[in-house]
Amino acid sequence: MKVIFVTGGAGFIGSMFVRLILEEVKDVKIINFDALTYAGNLENLEGIDSNRHEFIHADITDRKAVLEAMPENADALFNFAAESHVDRSILSADVFLKTNVIGTQVLLDVARHRRVKRFVQISTDEVMGSLPEDENSFFTEESPLRPNSPYAASKAAAEMIVRAANKTFGIDTIITRCGNNYGPRQFPEKLIPLMITNALNDDPLPVYGDGKNVRDWIYVEDHCRAIWEIYLKGKSGEVYNIGARNEKRNIDVVRSILDLLGKPYSLIKFVEDRPGHDRRYAINPQKVETEIGWRPRTSWEEGLKKTIKWYLENQGWLERVRDGSYKEYYRKNYGARLGV
Ligand SMILES: NC(=O)c1ccc[n+]([C@@H]2O[C@H](COP(=O)([O-])OP(=O)(O)OC[C@H]3O[C@@H](n4cnc5c(N)ncnc54)[C@H](O)[C@@H]3O)[C@@H](O)[C@H]2O)c1
Repeated sequence: MKVIFVTGGAGFIGSMFVRLILEEVKDVKIINFDALTYAGNLENLEGIDSNRHEFIHADITDRKAVLEAMPENADALFNFAAESHVDRSILSADVFLKTNVIGTQVLLDVARHRRVKRFVQISTDEVMGSLPEDENSFFTEESPLRPNSPYAASKAAAEMIVRAANKTFGIDTIITRCGNNYGPRQFPEKLIPLMITNALNDDPLPVYGDGKNVRDWIYVEDHCRAIWEIYLKGKSGEVYNIGARNEKRNIDVVRSILDLLGKPYSLIKFVEDRPGHDRRYAINPQKVETEIGWRPRTSWEEGLKKTIKWYLENQGWLERVRDGSYKEYYRKNYGARLGV
């Protein structure tokens, strides 16, 4: 039985990873280490095989807790734990540096001490900054790191210390950089669930700037499958970009959601842009396609329908996560922009 240590496994992507691996890989036991911040939610793990899953409620910056939880010679560590929302990093960046940078360093130190066999750092295309609107430019693994938000800067810093641990201490590391994920259980502050939630309530849909910023979207399950396959087949010390060749302008994403929900475009409200808002992300996934043999399985049309269906069927989940602190954040970020 393989033993893997997953951090942030109660969040959006981490919980999908835990679900997928428990379902599809029968000889794996997962230690899921998560601080349950506002974005972590044990409901995300309902229905999983609890015989092969152990949940530990603790913080990755707590060295003692990580040391106690991490077994000797674990097969892999997958670091999903992070503060992950750009807008929150603009309002206040301290916790981003603490979790995303110091937390990653603590995990690397303990992984070295405990002789973890492979360390997989879940990173983001945002570390590479913004691309021009010209559709022939793409991010590759060789693109320079040019983060433009405090969130992206903290993830870029984490990548650098993962690289340093590989070069200095010979830790077997892999970095994966994915584009924008969507799917079930994503916290409603992010674009797609935010728009679905507001549309369901007939509230205005706040779209930043002119709405023409481009993101490269991937269904969360496809991302998780790519991470697992890269873990199995990837080379130590390498970076792998993950993308589904699916660029969309924000405004087109929002219109598609309204179309699928049968709601009018008049709900769209263009609001003051996010400072430093990256214009375009687009990933060239050739390396993961050719070296690893991974391909996404879910089309945009199918993935978006499945996502909307999940939110429609899980409105209780949505109401529970939109608690007092979420409402406070929403007011801070969108109150003045929407004039409410
Ligand atoms: N969402 C995306 O589109 C996307 C794209 C590319 C990469 N990523 C990366 O994937 C990872 C997961 O993203 P997500 O969207 O699922 O994030 P999320 O915000 O939904 O979940 C983050 C999880 O980490 C946990 N966590 C936060 N701080 C912690 C700490 N100090 N100690 C332990 N646990 C802590 C939270 O409780 C939560 O369960 C992140 O590293 C993110 O940078 C996300």
